[in-house]
Amino acid sequence: MVSISVGRKLRAKNTVSGIQNSPLPAESMPEKRSVIHLENVYKIYQTGDLKVAALRGITLTVNKGEFVAIMGSSGSGKSTLMSIVGCLDVPTIGEYYLDSIEVRQLDERQLSIIRNRKIGFVFQSFNLIPRTSALANVELPLAYAGLKPKLRRQIAISALRAVGLDDRKDHIPSKLSGGQQQRVAIARAIAANPPLILADEPTGNLDSKASEEVMGILSRFHQSGRTVVLITHEPDIASYADRLIRISDGRLYSDEPIETHHKTKHQSISGSYAHGVSTDTEVTATDVKAVSAIGDSTEDIRA
Ligand SMILES: Nc1ncnc2c1ncn2[C@@H]1O[C@H](COP(=O)(O)OP(=O)(O)OP(=O)(O)O)[C@@H](O)[C@H]1O
Ligand SMILES: [Mg+2]
Repeated sequence: MVSISVGRKLRAKNTVSGIQNSPLPAESMPEKRSVIHLENVYKIYQTGDLKVAALRGITLTVNKGEFVAIMGSSGSGKSTLMSIVGCLDVPTIGEYYLDSIEVRQLDERQLSIIRNRKIGFVFQSFNLIPRTSALANVELPLAYAGLKPKLRRQIAISALRAVGLDDRKDHIPSKLSGGQQQRVAIARAIAANPPLILADEPTGNLDSKASEEVMGILSRFHQSGRTVVLITHEPDIASYADRLIRISDGRLYSDEPIETHHKTKHQSISGSYAHGVSTDTEVTATDVKAVSAIGDSTEDIRA
């Protein structure tokens, strides 16, 4: 897939528009390979006179290449945690380092660059743009990233092929099944080949077959070396991950490796994809040229 080359190049530089990786305090220095590091994170929401402590002292490290599932009852703080990890919100107290960059020091513009470059989001409700083709939906973040139309079209088609939907590229979301819409959303999330995928209940609106398909794709993405963090209410879905974190009442309740994930089952699901997410990339000169446009021109696009 062409987009792999994009990600490699993106990951190669770890500063964004002058954002320097801030030195971590020695006592909290996470492992070198950490992608996500939260240190005693609290999130307090205030609505009128009511204060809700959605997160209460979360300390957590996720290393590069991990597949982590997060479970917990409704209201326990899972989505709040995800919004902080995804740089959509900042902790009220505590620190968050993404790829060793301290997120608190970033302004809105820098945060949007980080999100575009490093993170692919998948949500329960797909969040596709209505009355807009699957292809255009997948192309959108590539446009934000500053890719030229021809190249972003090529990459978007590759991403749709990776989720088995290249024959539906001209369909608008309302003409696709729920599972297909989620696969388009995943194509959009992986198109720029971010090192980190955050999925908040990606199978919450899907039947079991569509859920397996979606999890097969996420597994493939993980197997090709990416980091995946997944929120789910379903133990079967969590079992695709290698590590299970349980959140209760805004606190980390448990954090354990998953020993018995259904490897055989997952392999057969992945194998059923004619066009799985592949690391066999055809890198062309055009790709390499376009890669340098990502991020660097994000400012212009957003201005
Ligand atoms: N923007 C907000 N403003 C005020 N309170 C909020 C906000 N977002 C979440 N909360 C509160 O924070 C707590 C945690 O919410 P969160 O959405 O993180 O839960 P969750 O674990 O994702 O639940 P679910 O499984 O139902 O999605 C809840 O009590 C919720 O009411
Ligand atoms: Mg939630």
